[in-house]
Amino acid sequence: MPERALFINTAYGAYLHRERPGDDEELTRVGPGTPCGEYLRRFWQPVIPSEELRNLPRRLRMLGEDLVAFRDRSGAVGLLELHCPHRGTSLEFGLISDKGIRCCYHGWLFDVDGTILETPGEPPDSTLKDRLFHGAYPVREYGGLVFAYLGPPDKQPDFPILDTYDLPGYRMIARTPTVWECNWLQVKENSMDPAHLAFLHTLPGSQGFTEDLGALGEWDWMETPVGMVYIDTRRQGDRIWVRVADFIPPNIHQFPPNADPMAKRRVINRPAATTWAVPIDDTHTMQIGFYRAPEGQEPRRGAGFGQDASRPYEDRQLVPGDYDAQVSIHGGISRHGLEHLASTDRGVTMMRNMLRRAIRAVRDGGDPPHLGARNGEAISTFAHDRVVPGIPPAATREEDSRLLRKVARDVVSGMVRAGS
Ligand code: FES
Ligand SMILES: [Fe+2]
Repeated sequence: MPERALFINTAYGAYLHRERPGDDEELTRVGPGTPCGEYLRRFWQPVIPSEELRNLPRRLRMLGEDLVAFRDRSGAVGLLELHCPHRGTSLEFGLISDKGIRCCYHGWLFDVDGTILETPGEPPDSTLKDRLFHGAYPVREYGGLVFAYLGPPDKQPDFPILDTYDLPGYRMIARTPTVWECNWLQVKENSMDPAHLAFLHTLPGSQGFTEDLGALGEWDWMETPVGMVYIDTRRQGDRIWVRVADFIPPNIHQFPPNADPMAKRRVINRPAATTWAVPIDDTHTMQIGFYRAPEGQEPRRGAGFGQDASRPYEDRQLVPGDYDAQVSIHGGISRHGLEHLASTDRGVTMMRNMLRRAIRAVRDGGDPPHLGARNGEAISTFAHDRVVPGIPPAATREEDSRLLRKVARDVVSGMVRAGS
């Protein structure tokens, strides 16, 4: 059998694609003990909106682990291993108690930190509950979301507060999470891919994105103290519109509003969304986070157009959205050996390199870069729209492109120097 051709250079060449390369396991596998999984576990991750924890336990899967979340009657939130340590009954059938959750099978009672409070069938002098704990993870509620830390206990970082959490003049809410049936990396890569705005999101019939985004921008990418940004710059009349979106490792992105026409944009517009792509397992990802809107406007709550699989299949074929474009990549886990990266993918390559370096740092016993402990201090981020007064166009298309990129880079560099 001939070797697989990596770059077919002849018509009707599909036969030359005999073998299918594997996925990039270092970046895609998230289970316990995998290099990427251990890296992701070193950060606080959102698990579930607070309001979803009511009178029943919630079964969850996160980073390949089966868990149960609940709020006991005292208001404390627990995130425990799903299966009871006695004989393994699922605690999704547990009874919410005044303190903790009680297994339905033989009544063992577990506190939110894994302490076993009661083993009612055991003799009164049994010390089993004093010696054994059930597996629990620390949680923290913030802004209407429950966050959890699934990493090594002695490495637990401070809870990071982004500067976008408490923006004057904005209201922020927890969005409704959606589940995407694909690997986390291809979802996150989309956040550094501004080129798709000018194609996918301005297809006829697409909704939720202003036509202004249909004009090709000048695309650029820069590293920042918290990760990286893409910069998408356009001339519009006598103004220059600089659109900046954050990627904040390991799995956060922030982007400015998509739907407002340019004419309505203010001089500075902070991000409309802060979104985590939390791996449920290798082939399922939860999009969860915050939406925000200026005071007086109602932030979006649910998934926008094309952001889930709820539309009929043929409608999705006629007018595909982000969900269809990303989930369909190579059947759920991107095979990088099948790609042919081009100039618009520089941000994707930068992101992969950044993640690979961080994953290897943790694998080799170090601490992950970015989002370090800041003792409650707000962490500067960079996503925003900036409208800059126009400057005369340069003589040629290439020179004008360089000029616009310089204007845009100066905007971001100025923010980095100023600490946002
Ligand atoms: S299996 Fe849970 S108490 Fe027995
Ligand atoms: Fe998109």
